[in-house]
Amino acid sequence: MHIPTLISRKREGEELSAREIALLVDGYTQGKVPDYQISAFAMAVFFKGMTPAEIAALTRAMMASGDCFSHRPGHPPVVDKHSTGGIGDKVSLILAPLVACAGCWVPMVSGRGLGITGGTLDKLESIPGFNVHLGLDQAAAQLEQIGVVMMGQTDRFCPADKKLYALRDVTGTVPSIALITASIMSKKLAESLDRLVLDVKYGCGAFMRTRHAAEELAASMIAVGHEMGVEVHAVLNPMDEPTGRAVGNSLEVIEALECLEGGGPADLRGIVLDLAGEIAGTSRTELEIFLDDGSARRRFDQLVAAQGGNPADLPRLAEIHQAPLIREVIASAGGVVSRVDAGLIGQAALQLGAGRARATDGVDFAVGFDRLVKCGEPVHAGQAVCRIHARTAVDFDMAEAMIEKAVKITSL
Ligand code: URA
Repeated sequence: MHIPTLISRKREGEELSAREIALLVDGYTQGKVPDYQISAFAMAVFFKGMTPAEIAALTRAMMASGDCFSHRPGHPPVVDKHSTGGIGDKVSLILAPLVACAGCWVPMVSGRGLGITGGTLDKLESIPGFNVHLGLDQAAAQLEQIGVVMMGQTDRFCPADKKLYALRDVTGTVPSIALITASIMSKKLAESLDRLVLDVKYGCGAFMRTRHAAEELAASMIAVGHEMGVEVHAVLNPMDEPTGRAVGNSLEVIEALECLEGGGPADLRGIVLDLAGEIAGTSRTELEIFLDDGSARRRFDQLVAAQGGNPADLPRLAEIHQAPLIREVIASAGGVVSRVDAGLIGQAALQLGAGRARATDGVDFAVGFDRLVKCGEPVHAGQAVCRIHARTAVDFDMAEAMIEKAVKITSL
């Protein structure tokens, strides 16, 4: 196969065959096709797009580039959810154990935060000892025991995606519907799922800025799932204000624990129940009972223990990760909260150190925001609109200025 010809054909908007795409991906995974050719190919795809058949072929080739889960005969329904990423999005931490309570298996392979959006693995690693580096055999054994595993992508799990995603990140080719679809769906389909729910976010704190773009991405992912025999549902959720009231790694785990114990912010609980309802095969009422009677929390404790953590640390997370400066931001005038800009808050959390600007950066588990006001809530002058958890006074001042811009209070 002559790679420059293939790149030129894509540049001219031609449709490539499944075989050509499979050979290209295979050559790249094995190091026979260099980064510069795949970069050019990705840019051609960025501008010309791909047909549904091409996207399915790319997804299949990336999925087949490594190992896939292979569940034993007679296994319970295997389900998962994927979020396209938002600010304060700790839904996975609650949904995975909750859906396991309903008798499903949840082999959740998640990612790390990049840019303004946080990552499930970073949040989990704020629990001392929690190990996200599991092999597929360990994961399979854990599914048998407790029905849920939360882990990272290994070198042998969709290696083509791992290489390509890193390359896209530095070549301006991340925001392509075709490439995003193949990247996300190859990893989810390698979990060998029966059902998948997609939480597609749109708004100022999301990858997709408009509902229209989110619909396009959802349709593309649903089409690939159906092509590959998996029941895929998509729920579109606005991401104009953060989910819940906490943003930052350990702060979000603390809020997730509240929700797992039947409490927590109403919007967070609502999103969890909406998404879980699409895949759990049980009623919303039963899912609510699992949250309210402590079942989901107990399953989370089992998950933590199975992956090297100590459930006894969970109630102490605030002490374990106490930032040096924890201070409130005070409203100067009263009114109703009319905006809590998720994009700005994500940016502020990133600058506090909660996120990473480059894939190789570390994250600070302690910093971020909690007790954030929500849109529609009344506030009076002198009331706190959030608490900032910062490492230094300079960081605090930066975050305070950003919160003052992000939170808009309209007088009555
Ligand atoms: N998340 C992924 O895993 N891949 C993308 O391309 C974008 C978001």
